[in-house]
Amino acid sequence: MKLAFSSLPLVNVKADALVVFVPSDEKHFKEAQKRITFMLPETQEVFESGDFTGKRDSVTMLYTNGKAKSVRLCLVGVGEADKVTLEIMRRAAAAVAKAATSKKLKSLAVAVPSGLALDAEGIGEAATEGLCLAAYKLTRYFSDKERTGNTLEAITFCSEAKKTLASVKKGAEYALVVAQGTLLARTLANIPNNDMYPEKLAEAAHKEGKEGGFKVTVLDKKRIEALKMHGLLAVNQGSKRPPVFIIMEYNGGSKGDKPIILVGKGVTFDTGGISIKPATGMAEMKMDMHGAATVIATLRTAAQLGLPLNLIGLIPATENMPSGSALVPGDVIVYSNGVSVEVDNTDAEGRLILADALIYAQQYKPQACIDLATLTGACVIALGSVATGMMGTDATLKSRLKLAGEYTHEYVCELPLHEEYEELIKSDIADVKNSGGRSAGAITGALFLKRFVGDMPWVHLDIAGTAILSSDMPYTPKGASGVGVRLLIDMLRKWKT
Ligand code: BES
Ligand code: ZN
Ligand code: MN
Repeated sequence: MKLAFSSLPLVNVKADALVVFVPSDEKHFKEAQKRITFMLPETQEVFESGDFTGKRDSVTMLYTNGKAKSVRLCLVGVGEADKVTLEIMRRAAAAVAKAATSKKLKSLAVAVPSGLALDAEGIGEAATEGLCLAAYKLTRYFSDKERTGNTLEAITFCSEAKKTLASVKKGAEYALVVAQGTLLARTLANIPNNDMYPEKLAEAAHKEGKEGGFKVTVLDKKRIEALKMHGLLAVNQGSKRPPVFIIMEYNGGSKGDKPIILVGKGVTFDTGGISIKPATGMAEMKMDMHGAATVIATLRTAAQLGLPLNLIGLIPATENMPSGSALVPGDVIVYSNGVSVEVDNTDAEGRLILADALIYAQQYKPQACIDLATLTGACVIALGSVATGMMGTDATLKSRLKLAGEYTHEYVCELPLHEEYEELIKSDIADVKNSGGRSAGAITGALFLKRFVGDMPWVHLDIAGTAILSSDMPYTPKGASGVGVRLLIDMLRKWKT
């Protein structure tokens, strides 16, 4: 997507469509009507007919009959002007992107609205997010080139006020980078296991590191063995394809700044292993590396933005397969920190591999450690696809994430880690078992991880419900959502303020 900014009058800007945001309250609707019909008198009827009222997310496409350099005029409703939020603007822009894509439009000229309860920077940011994120598709496997995702290639924001335009630019340019990061996470997560197995995921991390300017180190099976990452090796036992452990380092901060660590679950396909999953819906488990996808994309985005922080990304990656060599229920794993784990269920594999990453993370003495994982079906039941489950040991970190969740609408919702729940994962033959059964499943998953975090300020984000969508959301089509990139980047950009 290319962004441009123009102070020309709207009629003089050439694009496939002019986009005008229209509020629904009488005062602002009338104002918009006046401005638009002055520019294009033929549009009078659409306002008088009642077919377009400025209702949120409603889109009407008109033609300019040679009265403007652009042939189409796209009106989009934003509801009451004084109630417009970033999210309302994202969704309105998303409705435009979908309408434009259905006509295969490539360029839009967006009139920057005034009189809304949003400043120009917010308008630029939210409109860009909505336009870039909606109508996404993974298109690489289509042989029919008519089947496209979002067809938009260029957006020109238009305002005759130079100062407004400068603010819009600031918001839009930021949002473009973050939206591209989100799309990257979606694509990495949507690509199936036969093209995104552990070594391919490592290649993808390498590519992003090279293009974004951060260091990527990939540990192969030999190094993983030498480091005694026994959880990762145990889960990998049933696979032909070897595991990898990916380390990404972005140094945007000062030399002495302690890093912030992001850990992502990288199960490139989760069959459940010997505790095998039912066939129905199993294909979704190609997205069980969404945590990893988010971490790669967040490092890329942070690097692209030049955030003044030191970040480390850690990804344990493997398939979870059943076979004659697979881990079986009852097996005991002894971790390098001495903790022993009884494998009660081979389908609780995410926590087994994250444990190694959390042990590894401690050597950096980070100021914070956040793991992201499609960890439990229980979290999907508890919070659906609207909020990510948040559990952790550090109140400041949790409140930072909470704020970022509200800002981005990638909500996080805290679940408690009361020690009483630990009862559920007690083992008769080891220190802890990897499954606590059905009750409090998201919490026992997090409590398991807590055994491996030492004294790091730590938060676990269970993105099982928010990462893997079975139906479309306003600016997020079904499939991998890219969740976490906007959330983490918003938190990170405000880290020092
Ligand atoms: N990857 C799954 C969790 C999952 C389920 C993510 C549905 C997205 C949608 C995870 O590895 C898993 O299988 N968890 C088990 C844990 C249980 C055996 C303790 C689960 O949730 O059933
Ligand atoms: Zn899994
Ligand atoms: Mn599983």
